[in-house]
Amino acid sequence: MAKWYESAVFYELYTRMFRDANGDGFGDFDGVYEKLDYLKNLGVDAIWFPPFYASPLRDGGYDIANYRLVDPRYGTMEDVERVFARAHALGMHVMIDLVINHTSDKHVWFDASRRSKDGPYGDYYVWADDDKGYAGTRVIFGATEPSNWTYDPVRGQYYWHRFYKEQPDLNFDNPKVQQEVFDIADFWVAKGVDGFRLDAIPFLFEREGTNNESLPETHAFLAKLRSHLDETYGGEVCLLAEACVPADENLRYFGTEAAPECNLCFNFPLMTDLFRAPKTKDAAEIRQTCRRLFSDLPAGAAWSNFFRNHDFLTLELLPELKVRQMLEWYAPPQGMLNGGIARRLGPVLDYEEKVIRALTALLVSLPGAPCWYYGDEILMGDDPSLPDRDSVRLPVPWDEVERAEADPNSFLNWLKKLLRIRRTTPPLLEGDFRVVEGEPPSVFAFRRSLPNGQSVKFSIDFATMEYSWEA
Ligand code: GLC
Repeated sequence: MAKWYESAVFYELYTRMFRDANGDGFGDFDGVYEKLDYLKNLGVDAIWFPPFYASPLRDGGYDIANYRLVDPRYGTMEDVERVFARAHALGMHVMIDLVINHTSDKHVWFDASRRSKDGPYGDYYVWADDDKGYAGTRVIFGATEPSNWTYDPVRGQYYWHRFYKEQPDLNFDNPKVQQEVFDIADFWVAKGVDGFRLDAIPFLFEREGTNNESLPETHAFLAKLRSHLDETYGGEVCLLAEACVPADENLRYFGTEAAPECNLCFNFPLMTDLFRAPKTKDAAEIRQTCRRLFSDLPAGAAWSNFFRNHDFLTLELLPELKVRQMLEWYAPPQGMLNGGIARRLGPVLDYEEKVIRALTALLVSLPGAPCWYYGDEILMGDDPSLPDRDSVRLPVPWDEVERAEADPNSFLNWLKKLLRIRRTTPPLLEGDFRVVEGEPPSVFAFRRSLPNGQSVKFSIDFATMEYSWEA
C-alpha cells in the first residue's frame, strides 16, 4: 500500500506572505484558516509550512530562537492547531520545517553555550580556538559571510556556521543535541503534524579533511531519526530532505531498505533541467536525469519534484557553462546572488503560458510528489530589486486570485483541471516509470504502468512545447 505522501500534491505556504487576517501587515494562521478551502479546491493534498517559530527573522524564520513557540506575529499555538485540525478534516496533510543544522544566535542554548564552556550547553555548538578548521568547506551565503567561522567575544572562541553568522551550527556529535531533535519532532507530531521538511540536511556533521557535506555520520543520524519516527508512529510520519546535491549523492538520502532515511527528497537535479529544456530544445539532459532518478528507489521513497520555492532558483549543481546559459536566459538585471536567481515561475518564463503549462503537465506526470510554491498558481510576480530572497516572497494579491478563479481560461483553472486529471488517473499516481526510447532529440516520452496493465504514456516536445497523454 502506497503511503499518503508518495504521490501527494504539496503546497509550500509561506505564512508571513500568504494571508493577513488581522491587517497588521504580517500573514497569520487565521489567514491560512480562511483559505484552506481554496487550497483543497486547488487540489492540494499536503501543506508545508516553512518556520513560524519564535525568531529574529534574520533568515526568514530559518533562524529559530525557540522550537516550541509560535512567533506571536503569526498567531497563537491554538491558531496553529486549529489550522492543522481543519486541514486534516478537509483530507489534507501538514508538514512543517525541522531546522536542526543550526539555531538563531538568540536561542537560549547559544546564550548558555557562549557564557559557559563547561556548563550543560557548553558543547551544544561547534567551537574552536581559531578559524583554521574545516578549510575545505564552501561558504553558502558568500555574499555576506566571509567565513564559516565567527569570533564570539563572550566565550573567546570561534563558532561554526554554514549560513548567516546569526545561525550557529549545532554540534551533532553531542548526543544531547540529537535527543533534543527527537524531542522537538515528538512535540510537533503531538500537535498534529504529519511530517517534517529537513532543512539544510547535508551539513549536520563536520569532519576535518572533508567538504563537510553528506558525511556518513549525517546519514547514520538520519537513519536513527527515521527509525525513531517509524517505531513511534508506525511509519506514517514523513521526512522530506532538502539536500541540494548531485543526483547520486541525493539518492543516498533515501537510505537503504535496511536503514531507510528520508521518505521524500526535493528533486534539485531535475529542477534546473526543467528550466533548461525549453531553451535548449533538447530532451537529452532531462531524459538522462529521469532515467537515473526514477528507477530503483527503495520501497516507500519518492521524489518531490518542483519548480520554485522560497529560496533562489539555485544554479549550484550546474557546471560553469550551464550556469552562464541560465544567467543569460533567466537572470534579472541584478544577476546571481549566493549561487541563484531571485525569480518566480511566471516572470522567469516571461509568463509564456504555453511553456509553463507544458512544463507543469510534465512535472505532475512524473513519479513522485510535486511541490507547488504559493502564488505560482496565479503566476504571481516577483521583484528582483528587493534584497536577498524577498523577491520571491511577496504577499499574495487575493484580488488577482479572485479574478483568476472567475476566468475559465486562467492558468489557475487550468491547473485545477490538470490536478483533477492526475488524481483520477491511477497510473499517474502509482505507475512505475520507463523512458520511451527512439523518440526525436527534442522529445521526452515516458510510460507509467500499473501491475494490472493500465498505463499512460506522456510525451513532451521541447521544440514546440506540445505535450500529450495517451493510453
Ligand atoms: C534552507 C532554507 C533557506 C535557509 C537555509 C538556512 O536552504 O530553504 O531558506 O536560508 O536553509 O536555514
